[in-house]
Amino acid sequence: MNKYIEENKQRFLDELIEFLKIASVSADPKFNNEMQEAAQWVKGKLLDAGMDSAEICQTKGHPVVYAEKQVDASLPTVLVYGHYDVQPADPYELWNSPPFDPVIKKTAAHPDGAIFARGACDDKGQIYMHVKAVEMMLAQNQLPCNVKVMFEGEEEVGSENLETFIKENKERLAADIILISDTSIIGNDIPSVETGLRGLAYMEVEVTGPNRDLHSGVYGGAVANPANVLAKMIASLHDENGKVTVKGFYDKVVELSVEDRAALEAAPFDEAAYKSDLDVKEVDGERGYTTRERSSIRPTLDVNGMWSGYTGEGSKTVLPSKAFAKISMRLVPDQDWKEISGLFAEHFKSIAPDTVKVKVSRHHGGQPYVTPMDSLGYKAAYAAMKESFGKEPVPTRGGGSIPIVSLFEEVLGLKSILFGFGLDSDALHSPNEHYGLFNFYKGIEAIPLFYSHYAALKKDEHVNQ
Ligand code: BES
Ligand code: MN
Ligand code: MN
Repeated sequence: MNKYIEENKQRFLDELIEFLKIASVSADPKFNNEMQEAAQWVKGKLLDAGMDSAEICQTKGHPVVYAEKQVDASLPTVLVYGHYDVQPADPYELWNSPPFDPVIKKTAAHPDGAIFARGACDDKGQIYMHVKAVEMMLAQNQLPCNVKVMFEGEEEVGSENLETFIKENKERLAADIILISDTSIIGNDIPSVETGLRGLAYMEVEVTGPNRDLHSGVYGGAVANPANVLAKMIASLHDENGKVTVKGFYDKVVELSVEDRAALEAAPFDEAAYKSDLDVKEVDGERGYTTRERSSIRPTLDVNGMWSGYTGEGSKTVLPSKAFAKISMRLVPDQDWKEISGLFAEHFKSIAPDTVKVKVSRHHGGQPYVTPMDSLGYKAAYAAMKESFGKEPVPTRGGGSIPIVSLFEEVLGLKSILFGFGLDSDALHSPNEHYGLFNFYKGIEAIPLFYSHYAALKKDEHVNQ
């Protein structure tokens, strides 16, 4: 660990703990004050770190925190993106310590300790690495690039207002590359750099049977039960080979070459450990693909929630009038989320029996994204990882989504570098989310290396032109 980090280790951690205590849950209006508070807090820390300016940009939703440090117009500009909002912490009773009262505990994956709190890894712990890395580079007079920072408060709810913000601020956001720490590495001894993200199409369905809830004894057996019907419809969305049956779903999927598949498969993966971590006897998915492929280069369809009838304590004999489900599809290049949403709606209506009425609506979504491995940004990320871990990193394709990333490319014409330091097992979105202290400090150390490699590569490019 470098000297500056070593000397400021405890303060960095204390500050992160303070940040994590602010319950910045974007989905629930109950936490609107905390959202403003978190934005103010991080704005203050950006100024403390030495940024020239930082401001809170109000939107129709939660604010964007925007800051700049201009070193020299001839240097490349890095635009750092991340999110200070977090997922709701429910169910609270499954947390071993309160979600907004961070504690540090050792785990098998994190023998040096991990900080447990909602947002520790996704994404407050990771954006705070950037604030501290900038502080360190400025304190040591070693900032080789101009920096723009854009932290949003709506990533976990679809980034709708950030889309407007980037469209309205194109000039201001001009940069050479976008740097994002909101993804994972394979393991603390296996550095990796993600080369892509999946897209997302999120739908909701409503199936209506009779016009009111009915006595399940008086009417049961004679009237179609929408819960039963919905279950059957959902079951039919996959065939016996684990393929999604929505018509046209695979039409635009780019199949990887044998070589590309082999390269991704070269990354170490312990299936036994994967199963035991999740306490499942067997894995499952599309036949003909490995677990890693199923969760990265292949598109999927999953129910995220379903509800109908009586779900309270005890029992109530009722034949429900309605049944609902939230269904998401993860997409890969070149699927288009709006097109897939349309195909889903058509298909779902087409499989409904005459006994029910079906309504399908679209929530948010986003396009899949790929980072070219021959780009300077990717090369800089690779070199920085290699230098800080002292090991050759592995290229991986991520399974999660950051829908705004494809819009950065479309609107700003900028590629994004996925420079995340979490572990998939850090329980993002789950109870007991945590972030390794090793990962936090590693990120602070590796970010300045990205800047210096990127500045050097850009300079070479210039000279060679
Ligand atoms: N940071 C995650 C995405 C992620 C996690 C990518 C791990 C790669 C590895 C992000 O905050 C997230 O949760 N995105 C959502 C999408 C959003 C529209 C709610 C997702 O992937 O479900
Ligand atoms: Mn995130
Ligand atoms: Mn998330």
